[in-house]
Amino acid sequence: MPDITLTTLQGLKQKGEKITMLTCYDATFAHASCAAGVEVLLIGDSLGMVTQGHDSTLPVTVADMCYHTASVKRGNQGAFIIADLPFMAYATVEQTLHNSGLLMQAGAHMVKIEGAAWLADSIRQLAERGVPVCVHMGLTPQSVNLLGGYKVQGRGEAQARQMRADAIALEQAGAAMILLECVPSELAAEITQAVKVPVIGIGAGSATDGQVLVLHDMLGLSISGRVPKFVKNFMSGQDSLHGALSAYVSEVKAATFPGIEHGFSA
Ligand code: KIV
Repeated sequence: MPDITLTTLQGLKQKGEKITMLTCYDATFAHASCAAGVEVLLIGDSLGMVTQGHDSTLPVTVADMCYHTASVKRGNQGAFIIADLPFMAYATVEQTLHNSGLLMQAGAHMVKIEGAAWLADSIRQLAERGVPVCVHMGLTPQSVNLLGGYKVQGRGEAQARQMRADAIALEQAGAAMILLECVPSELAAEITQAVKVPVIGIGAGSATDGQVLVLHDMLGLSISGRVPKFVKNFMSGQDSLHGALSAYVSEVKAATFPGIEHGFSA
């Protein structure tokens, strides 16, 4: 696979070809995901739950993220690498710049931050300094205590209007990618049409420019037993890791995953 860059991903959006992203936390899975054709590896702070055993992403530190980003970089075979800024690591613009620098030096090609319009200044300053930013909107798991649980966001016209406006404002501020989590499928489709940057969905329907899942979820490795509606177990019917990862890539590319049953209504 030739090296995937931000330009490659923008080109895929323009051509209408779906982008494949999976979370990844170590070198072995980075290597295996690349061999199956996964284009984007996300070192998500979900590692706090799936590798560290916490019940939320809040305990994850910048040092944890740098450690896993460096591990993924060593196993990477040309995928585009995105790393999450963890809880409270971007509370001020100064913290955002400093901690993004650490993630980029560890091997990330882009940083991801959770939020909405309030991030505009940080995103602008990162972009000015050469750091591409993915903004994670909709269900933002670091705000689980404020949201009162892991709930669908953007339901109802007022919330939907706000999310559309925020996405456009953040693209104008310099965001190079948008990730929508647990957003009604129609709203995700509208936002995908409204912006030029790639929009990646998880629980956001099939109309986004690409899809992401948490690696352990799509391999059927949940330890909590709680499997979100938007997850499909790609290990089912396969007899190897390579088979499961390749099935994910094929189904996302063919737009057969996600199905209607994996999405949410307004
Ligand atoms: O941390 C993570 O794994 C994520 C995905 C849920 C998109 O942000």
